This record gives sequence, structure tokens and C-alpha cells, in this order.
Amino acid sequence: MSETPIASSLPSPPSATGARLSRGVLLRTPIPGPEAQKVIARDHEFLMTVTKSEPIVAASGQGVWITDVDGNRLLDFAAGISVMNVGHSHPDVVRAIRDQAGILQHFAGTDFYYDLQVRLAEKLTQITPGTFAKKIFFSNSGTESAEAALKIARWNRRRPITIGLLGAFHGRSMGSLSMTASKPVQRARYSAFVNGGHHIPAPTCYRCPYKLEYPSCDLYCAKILKELYFETSIPPDDVAAFIAEGVMGEGGYFVPPKGWHQAIKSTLDEHGILFISDEVQSGMGRTGKWFAIEHSGVVPDILTMAKAVGGGVPMGAVAMRADLDLGTGAHSNTFGGNLIASAASLATIGVMERENLLQNATSQGQYLMQRLRELQGRYDEIGDVRGLGLMVAAEFVTDRRTKEPAIQFRDRVLTEAYRRGLILLGCGRSAIRFIPPLIVRREEIDEAIEIVDAAISAARAGA
Ligand SMILES: Cc1ncc(COP(=O)(O)O)c(C=O)c1O
Repeated sequence: MSETPIASSLPSPPSATGARLSRGVLLRTPIPGPEAQKVIARDHEFLMTVTKSEPIVAASGQGVWITDVDGNRLLDFAAGISVMNVGHSHPDVVRAIRDQAGILQHFAGTDFYYDLQVRLAEKLTQITPGTFAKKIFFSNSGTESAEAALKIARWNRRRPITIGLLGAFHGRSMGSLSMTASKPVQRARYSAFVNGGHHIPAPTCYRCPYKLEYPSCDLYCAKILKELYFETSIPPDDVAAFIAEGVMGEGGYFVPPKGWHQAIKSTLDEHGILFISDEVQSGMGRTGKWFAIEHSGVVPDILTMAKAVGGGVPMGAVAMRADLDLGTGAHSNTFGGNLIASAASLATIGVMERENLLQNATSQGQYLMQRLRELQGRYDEIGDVRGLGLMVAAEFVTDRRTKEPAIQFRDRVLTEAYRRGLILLGCGRSAIRFIPPLIVRREEIDEAIEIVDAAISAARAGA
């Protein structure tokens, strides 16, 4: 088995103080370079096919920068799919992980006790919305958080139905997949799903399912739950929960219009239906508040977290109203609240607070949207720029009037961007998400925009 060689001329590691170095993209080879190609070939031989889309082979990371196995320094506007919110290898998080590994790694926090997970749980109850008493369940991923939330709702309400949104993504295990309705490929061949799952059209204004316009639509997409579904196919008193992402992520970065959450929540409240806010992608400061639902003023009964909550260590969590607590043995796991994950999470939250990253997400997010809108002014292919904080996307269309998704063009832009050293991810059918670590600075956004500009020009030239 060949070792992955790392060129000796790579940039120096993070300084002991953790000061970030502004270094710029540096390309020594085409992407993928020769060493990357070797890893990719072996990956294809030994790993199950999943969702890989770009031939980037990382060797190390610092802040917003990734160095690949060929010594190329790349600007990371994907942040490990919104996981590395405090940046790669933040020294405080690295120290917390190292220290905890030398003290105690795992002790099964579901069967025994230790202080670290209690401290983290208490902290999470403080930063999640709602002034009522809350309890936390720790999982290991987003899908497990969704499973737990759905089980908590069913267990409490003893009702069989859950309602979600078309376009939503909640995970890929059978319970969460039953509520995922983002792309057919995610569901094909997996039926039968967990029964009781219903979906209604999502509040996706740029692509309004009813072809209406906000605000003259009078939030028809929220009212329809009460006025049509509850009057026809879904008996409301059989519904345990309604689940929605704070901002729809995988499905295309759609921010619900103002008032949508309130309208939905008041309908749910009429029937004692629990509201689950899936904040796996939109949470932990990504939108400029700890959780995206806070922008709406609505307080969920149950809130799911994962991705950035572990600061790069696998972790998920569910925050719930304390009165929804389960009975002994009704739900549990092995790794939830693992000591290393808890240490990383506490350190991550500490960094977010000390470095004012919510505020940075807000101000840099505004700047990023403004810069993307400048590009929209120059490129007809950008049909829409939308987002909240640093959860931002640009959607590509073949025609601004018909809004026909420009899927191949979007894919070419992604390719031309990584060839120029910018790591991005797609979402929806023809959008690109821009989700740098929340420590990102203006000059790094400028560098990313320059690359996107060049990538779009190149994609046009190659058309
Ligand atoms: C909103 C949302 N929920 C749940 C999940 C599933 O998380 P995981 O991949 O950790 O299972 C994701 C993953 O992208 C997500 O974006």
C-alpha cells in the first residue's frame, strides 16, 4: 500500500498562537495532480460509491484553506459540508481533542455518567431557542438526530403521521429517508418507507410551486396545510409532528418567506402537533444566529443538530422541551455524547463566542451576497442569489424568464472553480452553495468571487 506523499515544500503548519495566515490559492499541479489521481484510483477500488463529485484529495487544512496531496493550496467554500464552521484545525478545538484523548476517550455516556456531556448539554440548552426547560439527546450524525426527533414525537403523541416538505433533506436511514424528498435517486429502490410520512410543497419562492408571488400570495404555501390537506387527506389529530429545515439545504438553499413559520406553527398548535426544526445544516451559527429558526421568531418543540456541532468530530444532538423526555430504554445508543466529541463541541462553541462568529457570519454573508449579485448583474446564467448569513447559494438557469435549470452549466462552473483552486458544492438541481467557514474574511471572499467569475467565463467559453 503506497503512503500518501506530501511534498516537503508545503506551507508551514498553523502557528502556535493559531494566527491565520492569508496565503492565497497556490496551484502547483492541475487538479487532480498525480498524487491525487493515485488516491482517487484506489478509492474507486475500495470504497462504496457515495456522493463524491470533485477530485480533490486533502492532506491538511488550516482555517479556510485545504492543502491537497500534491501541495496545492485550495480555498474551501464547502467547509466539509458546513461542518468546519470555526475553520480547519482551529488550535482551541485541536487542543481540546488532544487533551481529552489523553484523559478518557469513551465511557458510554448513555449508560454511565461524566461531567463533560452534562456541561455540553447545559450549554446547548442555553443556545437553542426557547426559555422553557430543555433536555438534550446526543447522537452521532444528522440522520440519527432526525430519527431520534421523529421517535420522540411519535412516543409522546402516540400518533402515526409525520408531515414534511417536498425538497427536504433529513438523512438517509430509513426513518429520516421517509421524510427526505430532495431527489428521486435518494429514495429509488428503498420503498417501503416508514409509514405515516406525508409531504407538502415547500416555501421555495424563486420556484413557487403555485406560481404565485410573495407577498401577494398571502402565504398560500402555509395556509394550504390547514385549508386543503387537513380538510382532505391528512387527519390533523393523527399527526405527531411537522419537520422542516431552518433553511432548506440540500434541496437548494431556500429561505422560507417571512411569516411562513408563524402561519404553519399556529396551524400545528391548534392540533397539538410538534414542530421539529432540522438545523443540521442551517444551525450552529451558519445563518448569523445560532439556529436559522430564530430568524422567524418561532420556537420549535424539538430541534436537531449535527455537522458543525462536533467541530469536525462526528456528533449530533437533539434539543427538546423537557416535558417530552422519554421513558428509560425507549431510545439510546452507544456513542452519543462521546467524550472526544463533547470536548470538541464545547471548544467549538467557545471559539464561536470568543471570536464573534455569529456576527462575522452576518456581515461576511451580506458581503458575499452583494458580490454574487454583482456577478448576477453580469451573467444572465445566474437566475437567483439567495441565503441567510453564510448559508448562500447562486442558482443557474438557461433562461431567466422560464427559469429552466442550467444543470450542465452549473456543473461546468463547479469544475472550472476547483481547477482554479476553489472548493464548492452544488445543491438543488442547478445551484451552487457558498458555505465557507464562519471565520472567513473579506479578502478571501474577494478571492473566491474572482475565481467564480473566471469559472463562469470559462464555462461559457466551453459551452
Ligand atoms: C438538514 C439536514 N438534515 C439531516 C442531514 C443528514 O445528516 P448526516 O449526513 O450527518 O446523516 C443533512 C445532511 O446533509 C442535512 O443537511
